[in-house]
Amino acid sequence: MIKLLYKKALKPVLFKLDPDLIHTLFVKIGVASGNIAPLKSVINAIYGEPSGKKTLQVDGITYQGPVLLSAGFDYNAHLSHILFSMGFAGEEVGSVTARPCLGNPPPRLRRMIKSNSIQVYKGLKNDGVDAIIKRIKTKKIPPQFVLGISIAKTNDERNSSQEEGIKDYCYSFKRLNEENIGDFYTINISCPNAFGGEDFAKPASLRLLLTELKKIPSTKPMYIKMPINQNWEDFQQLLQIIDELGIQGVVIGNLNKKYEDADFPSEATKEYRGGLSGKPCQKLSNNLIEKTRQHYPQMTIMGCGGILTPEDAMEKMRLGANLLQLITGMIFTGPHLMNDINKKFERS
Ligand SMILES: Cc1cc2nc3c(=O)[nH]c(=O)nc-3n(C[C@H](O)[C@H](O)[C@H](O)COP(=O)(O)O)c2cc1C
Repeated sequence: MIKLLYKKALKPVLFKLDPDLIHTLFVKIGVASGNIAPLKSVINAIYGEPSGKKTLQVDGITYQGPVLLSAGFDYNAHLSHILFSMGFAGEEVGSVTARPCLGNPPPRLRRMIKSNSIQVYKGLKNDGVDAIIKRIKTKKIPPQFVLGISIAKTNDERNSSQEEGIKDYCYSFKRLNEENIGDFYTINISCPNAFGGEDFAKPASLRLLLTELKKIPSTKPMYIKMPINQNWEDFQQLLQIIDELGIQGVVIGNLNKKYEDADFPSEATKEYRGGLSGKPCQKLSNNLIEKTRQHYPQMTIMGCGGILTPEDAMEKMRLGANLLQLITGMIFTGPHLMNDINKKFERS
């Protein structure tokens, strides 16, 4: 009933409106629902918390289910108190940056409806790490909910040198650890539409960045958010460094920069204007998950990119993902997707 309602009534209306506006509306409703107990119970009754019947232990953290909200949706940490009621076992807040960041000029999001994708040109818009730490401290987060924080470098001209970029990442990482905020941290080296490009997705600069981050005292697991447009040889060079430096794992992966990979490339803008989420990420992400698992049996893998059905979710786990992350499936398939995945996972 809920699925039908979303597909036939709600989605056609929502998809006629500006995606940024819908996001703002969703966040407002989410914040209110999390704060008002009867509303929270309704959300819980409709979508359902992860039952915890089949928990996962990953790097010392217990997850009540396999699905996390991927970085980029709850970028300012407004929703950490309601996402558990929607079926998420955890989330990645952010990406957060050292300084507040306005992001790229709008429009920042475009739906590609036939391609099951969003063209994302957000450019790391967020309130900055210090404001986000403050906000998280005020939230009543369910104790079973796992809070990851995604860290990126501030998207502005000040960070055009490698040295400034590293300082920026280190500032956020240090502040989060000092304040003991977050259960794990993900270092986003692969934002496809930020100032200075993806300079830390190259072996030498990644080594420098991770070496500096490792000097900061931390007891939490760290993951690296990987690009998906590199060939296996280049990708493996990054994995080798991650493994050598004792980083726990990777999120595979970020947005797809190749518009030809969409089912209907003509839905994208002619000029490059941000990476594609959803279906165009699926194949690349699955291939890299499978190869990473074959070569690095011990490495934690969060599988992300194009999970639109419970079957897509199970496929990523079959290929070697320990946990899953999604955004686009929640929007295109509907917010019941997480519960459907949880149930399928429990039965598997
Ligand atoms: C609106 C939007 C904003 C995003 N912003 C970020 C971000 O700030 N940091 C990040 O690491 N990934 C970001 N991503 C990428 C997602 O975390 C994810 O890797 C990608 O969307 C593939 O997953 P999906 O197909 O389930 O959406 C963003 C994606 C979307 C759709």
